[in-house]
Amino acid sequence: MIRSAVRGVGSALPRRIMKNAEFEKLVDTSDEWIVQRTGIRQRHIAAEDETTVSLGEAAAHKALDAAGMTPDDIDMILLATSTPNNTFPASAVEIQERLGMRHGYAFDMQAVCTGFVYAVTTADLYIRGGMAKRILVIGSETFSRILDWEDRTTCVLFGDGAGALVLEAVEGKGTTADRGVLASSLRSDGTHREKLYVDGGPSTTGTVGHLRMEGREVFKHAVAMITDVVEDVFAKSGITADDLDWFVPHQANKRIIDASAKKLGIAEEKVIVTVHLHGNTSAASVPLALAHAVGEGKIKTGDLVLLEAMGGGFTWGAVLLRW
Ligand code: UT7
Repeated sequence: MIRSAVRGVGSALPRRIMKNAEFEKLVDTSDEWIVQRTGIRQRHIAAEDETTVSLGEAAAHKALDAAGMTPDDIDMILLATSTPNNTFPASAVEIQERLGMRHGYAFDMQAVCTGFVYAVTTADLYIRGGMAKRILVIGSETFSRILDWEDRTTCVLFGDGAGALVLEAVEGKGTTADRGVLASSLRSDGTHREKLYVDGGPSTTGTVGHLRMEGREVFKHAVAMITDVVEDVFAKSGITADDLDWFVPHQANKRIIDASAKKLGIAEEKVIVTVHLHGNTSAASVPLALAHAVGEGKIKTGDLVLLEAMGGGFTWGAVLLRW
């Protein structure tokens, strides 16, 4: 059977690092509160010339280099983002143009923080359905543009960045020893809309709007939703927590990551944590964490890797893959 195997990963971050202490001048907060409640110590903030498209393009170049490929080798680009450069055209098509690709097709996918998990699952289906042989899957965000910089309950939590994977069709035996995506689980439930949303948009206010979140309410649901989809991919694949080499969770809050790993019985040393470096970068958080872990020599070919995310909508999902 056809599998979607990872050939390369790359990431890109804005030049400017903003440490927690800088927020003490903007809102009534402290480095101590942010570290204790979230684990975040710093985040990258995009300058005017750094956009979802430019960061996504930079991450794509790095992933292509890691794969030993050029844009000519790619059939399709799938960009997970909630902060596109423009309402349309899709930022994925702008990235395609910047990469010099005059063939294939590109589109955006919007599932907020779960965007990259949705995108990997979708790309896997395009590959297994024969629609594409090699896909660039990108998560790129500039959440700093939709933050209310006077709201201490949200502005300290988010950051900007991008990560990208090259997925390629390979022949597998249909067992969990195959390289590639082995199982996925996606969920959404719009009854939770008001807990995490942006208060503007083209068809309502005609403005971009600002992110609004009832953090405590999101927190209350996060661990149960994450464990729900992870247990689903375990059931679908026959894999257990003990079999995993690496757990790469969405990087929103260290306390959510720790509680999810504990509930799932995943050993602490298998958990990739980057939230202290990047904050919550929404759809970019999982590929940024993947690129970081590969860069540190942690994730290697043949390793069993579990991805998960949960966010606005609510949306939530998990992907199990062999690197
Ligand atoms: O990626 C999408 C998913 N998003 C998430 O996963 C975020 C989920 N939620 C969270 O991570 C946490 O709920 C937060 C980090 C947002 C908040 O942590 P918490 O432990 O749930 O705190 P809280 O909202 O219950 O607030 C505790 C106190 C409040 O004061 P009172 O009402 O107890 O007097 C807040 O007003 O902390 C206050 N507070 C702050 N204090 C200093 C809220 N934000 C800040 C701040 N600095 N930045």
